[in-house]
Amino acid sequence: MSIDFCGLQLPHRIVNGSGTFDAIAARRVFGEELTSNFPFAAYVSKTITIEPRQGNPAPRLWEASAGLINSIGLPNKGLLGYLREDLPRLVDILTGGERQVPLITNVMGSTAEEISRLLEACGQRDEIAALELNVSCPNVKTGLDIGADPYQLEQVVRAVRPSTTKPLIVKLTPNTADVALCALAAQEGGADAVSLINTLRATALAPPGAHGGERGRWLGAGTGGLSGPAIRVVALAQVSAVAARVEIPVIGMGGVRSPADARELIDVGATLVGVGTESFRDPAAAGRIAAGLQAMRNG
Ligand SMILES: Cc1cc2nc3c(=O)[nH]c(=O)nc-3n(C[C@H](O)[C@H](O)[C@H](O)COP(=O)(O)O)c2cc1C
Repeated sequence: MSIDFCGLQLPHRIVNGSGTFDAIAARRVFGEELTSNFPFAAYVSKTITIEPRQGNPAPRLWEASAGLINSIGLPNKGLLGYLREDLPRLVDILTGGERQVPLITNVMGSTAEEISRLLEACGQRDEIAALELNVSCPNVKTGLDIGADPYQLEQVVRAVRPSTTKPLIVKLTPNTADVALCALAAQEGGADAVSLINTLRATALAPPGAHGGERGRWLGAGTGGLSGPAIRVVALAQVSAVAARVEIPVIGMGGVRSPADARELIDVGATLVGVGTESFRDPAAAGRIAAGLQAMRNG
């Protein structure tokens, strides 16, 4: 079975959520086992920005009842560092012999000009199959809240769209009044696909006696984003609402832990399904979910 996604022919429907599976680190740990059995149909990089970023102050993680709050803050080597250092390593992991796993590079900028530069530079590289634009990360104070406003989102997507001929996926924010309107705005602006959901804005107070951050909050940045099982039903509602409104393909994610979870997102209209937080608990999760899904009818 082959799945068509924006012209890419994929062997199955499971991809990773950006920032939740470090393929370079995984290769160091798992070696050839990772490359010969790469679990994802396409690999999404963590978010890349123009300048290198250190990320947020510690603590950066809080385990909630049925999920994880993170305020990692998008640490990355910046555009040049990514292209020079990470891209060749990723290509080495994703391609070779029979292996041809498409690479989707996820980018974020705080202005249309910055985003255009990122899309143009990455779009010129043959090694990169598609681009994902993160307009939704709630962890970065200076980040793109524009993803929460349909009008601004459409303007930005329209402005940056000509910067690349590669498929452009817009990763929507769930922290908005009407996610389907935002998805429509992305489509109108020229997006080839949308992905959702990113993390839901969340916070945690420092336990009594622990050294708290700002106003007794646990996380160094004060707030973070919730992911994992707790958000699965929110993802189901939002993916369903979006898929009913747009004509472009949808990548659905949020709290997926099993083939049945993935199947539900497909049943409400997702073409591909992202596995995120579950990969931290079990690095083999995506392979297990992809195999289980394929064993189901119309997987
Ligand atoms: C530790 C961590 C880091 C993440 N980093 C990014 C990122 O760099 N860019 C991005 O667009 N989304 C990022 N996300 C969001 C995920 O890609 C995904 O949208 C979200 O976690 C929901 O899926 P899940 O519940 O399966 O984890 C991150 C999530 C986590 C938990």
